[in-house]
Amino acid sequence: MSNFIHFILLSSLLLSLSSAQQSLHPRALLLPVSKDPKTQQFLTKISQRTPLVPTTLVVSLGGRQLWADCYNNFSSSSIRRPKCGAAQCSLADSDGCRNNICGADPENPVTRTITYDDVVSDIVTIISTDGSRPGPVFTIRDFVSLCAPSSLLEELASNAVGSAGLGRTRVSLSSQLAARSSFKRQFAMCLPSSTTANGVIIFGDVSYKFLPNIDATKFLKFTPILTHPSPDKSAEYFIGVKKIKINGKAVPINYSLLTIQNGGTQLTTGNPNTVMRTSIYNAVTAAFINEATAMNITRVASVAPFGACFDEKTVAGSRLGAKVPVIDLVLQNENVVWTITGSNSMVQAGTNVLCLGFVDGGKDPRIPIIIGTHQLEDNVLQFDLATSRLGFSNTLLARQTTCSNFNFTSTA
Ligand SMILES: *[C@@H]1O[C@H](CO)[C@@H](O)[C@H](O)[C@H]1NC(C)=O
Ligand SMILES: *[C@@H]1O[C@H](CO)[C@@H](O)[C@H](O)[C@H]1NC(C)=O
Ligand SMILES: *[C@@H]1O[C@H](CO)[C@@H](O)[C@H](O)[C@H]1NC(C)=O
Ligand SMILES: *[C@@H]1O[C@H](CO)[C@@H](O)[C@H](O)[C@H]1NC(C)=O
Repeated sequence: MSNFIHFILLSSLLLSLSSAQQSLHPRALLLPVSKDPKTQQFLTKISQRTPLVPTTLVVSLGGRQLWADCYNNFSSSSIRRPKCGAAQCSLADSDGCRNNICGADPENPVTRTITYDDVVSDIVTIISTDGSRPGPVFTIRDFVSLCAPSSLLEELASNAVGSAGLGRTRVSLSSQLAARSSFKRQFAMCLPSSTTANGVIIFGDVSYKFLPNIDATKFLKFTPILTHPSPDKSAEYFIGVKKIKINGKAVPINYSLLTIQNGGTQLTTGNPNTVMRTSIYNAVTAAFINEATAMNITRVASVAPFGACFDEKTVAGSRLGAKVPVIDLVLQNENVVWTITGSNSMVQAGTNVLCLGFVDGGKDPRIPIIIGTHQLEDNVLQFDLATSRLGFSNTLLARQTTCSNFNFTSTA
């Protein structure tokens, strides 16, 4: 054999090895996220089963696992049901056994209904990425998830067949993808404000690039992710808010209510607006209305469920949305501040009516502040599960981009 042919054979062998290596261990994985205009839920698409079908799932930030309806219009020749005691059962935190098949408790992220069903494992495919564009498809052969009855889909967006849980468990989508791809247990979520262009969830340790070539990893600030003392909240993501400022002035609140022992501040994809304990809600809306009045913004009648609404004609516009009082969540110290401007604070609640997107959560709820999706949109949130650390960007509008500016155009 000539040296030349040898060379060709050897290099094609090396090439195929390196591309096999690449698909074995992608640097990062990518999911598109769309906003459902009707429910305001955030949806993603994951291909599963044999033959592969794209399934639409509701994104659930604190959800314990991926679950899907496997009774209605379901077929897969590759699905397996692990026997009680198998490794997949403990991975899935199984708490039951039926006909020697283990099971666990899928939860509807919107209604919070919980049921019991089989643990299953099956094929899942997901697109790889370098952080700036989509790459080749990555296949996981024995991804562990839960079955759920069709009744658990109640109140989910009409095309959704389940939920993609990204919570702090070993079986969540974020943990399993990291384990199967041998990358850091870290993911970033960037929810779109637009209902027509997708945002992203990126799993793995890469720079997140948005058009026009903006690296969102460069301007992340970091705060610890706190663990709620109640086991039923242990998969959820909490942060420590020390103080709330409006136009730079601290709002008079009993801040010891916000320690994690007293409930803490949770991030959720389960509701569109931020829900606050009555005493906090009253103090925050009163301070906001005061500052708005000083800016010559006219208050108008409330539009339920909101309590602080304004005449849009008296509100100026800006690059960061309506020009309204700025809300700062001061985290572990005065230098770590999550800033909420008009694009994330105000909701269009009627013709010429803008309302502060915060709602009253009652006198004594278990969690005093739950930050909703409207406040999370167009922000990069990086969740590091290994070090329990949240990186947050504040609004990408301040950087001349949005979550909908990821380049989904594939080179392939
Ligand atoms: C059944 O599933 C297939 C594949 O996902 C889909 O194309 C089809 O519309 C579904 N049929 C019904 C009745 O939901
Ligand atoms: C503040 O809240 C804490 C925790 O609920 C409570 O123990 C304390 O009495 C409150 N302080 C005031 C001044 O109301
Ligand atoms: C509000 O209106 C008053 C009276 O027209 C004016 O003097 C003041 O400068 C305005 N304030 C702001 C912040 O625009
Ligand atoms: C998006 O990515 C594709 C493929 O890599 C590239 O051809 C295209 O120029 C990119 N779009 C922009 C606006 O940069």
